[in-house]
Amino acid sequence: MLLKKRILIIGASGQIGTELTAHLRNKYGNLKVIASDIKEGDDAIMKSGPFEILDATDYDTVQDVVMRHEITDVYLMAAMLSATAEKFPMKAWNLNMNSLFNILNLARDKKIEKIFWPSSIAVFGPTTPKVNTAQRTVMEPSTVYGISKQTGERWCEYYSKRFGVDVRSIRYPGLISYKTLPGGGTTDYAVDIYHKAIKHKKYICFLNAKTTLPMMFIDDAIKATVGIMEAEGPEIKIRNAYNLAAMSFNPEEIAASIKKHIPDFEIKFNPDFRQEIADSWPQSIDDQEARKDWGWKHSIALDEMTEIMIRNLKK
Ligand code: SER
Repeated sequence: MLLKKRILIIGASGQIGTELTAHLRNKYGNLKVIASDIKEGDDAIMKSGPFEILDATDYDTVQDVVMRHEITDVYLMAAMLSATAEKFPMKAWNLNMNSLFNILNLARDKKIEKIFWPSSIAVFGPTTPKVNTAQRTVMEPSTVYGISKQTGERWCEYYSKRFGVDVRSIRYPGLISYKTLPGGGTTDYAVDIYHKAIKHKKYICFLNAKTTLPMMFIDDAIKATVGIMEAEGPEIKIRNAYNLAAMSFNPEEIAASIKKHIPDFEIKFNPDFRQEIADSWPQSIDDQEARKDWGWKHSIALDEMTEIMIRNLKK
């Protein structure tokens, strides 16, 4: 089984895809992991193994890449994030849904064996209880991105039940990394703040001081992604998407953590349209089902993450 495993990562040039590709190539061998994206990635991705330019919404091209490389597992990381999706609702819907249907249909037709598809805390909405948000609760997402992720979750569960498709998903919180920038998300401030702190010792935040959101360092996100994909089938009891948590903080708290390294760092606040998106999301997440079903455990908290971010961005 492992011998014939061949992985396709769609969206390999993005924030998660870049690090996921490196991790999986390390683990399974460079030639077994095909990276793909609509645009080229950084040197590490392009030079360490096969790469295909791929439009995830184009079924024929996706199928061609899958058949040509004899792909067994697909990680579908291409998506339009929350802030950009508010500007281009139909484009976001088209990308986020059609890319998912393409992969689900390939699995239904037995052309691939296993799918990872990321969901998000954006599936929750303003009517969801905000603290320690449960796996199953009120879900009335109010953003284009959240609607697409919530709908995607329903379809994943449907394809699993009706066609036996092995699809696995987690609801990522905001993700913080130093190798590749996120693009167009509401939680992006928590990456940008480190870059600006190092460069200018100043940051103007587009969310207000007290906006607490669930967050996670990229290493934990990669660990969760690979962890759920490697779990034995029967361990995966939820086929829409698992809640997943590591830490929660607000802009004031991340600024305080940065000040321990850069004492004269200053933060100011100038909330824009993203404030309303953030206000519609939970502050903290109850992820006990992921911990119980497939052994999820996070390891990195705010101060450790700050130390890692600052040390690496200074290089
Ligand atoms: N980080 C994403 C965003 O802000 C949420 O999944 O859009």
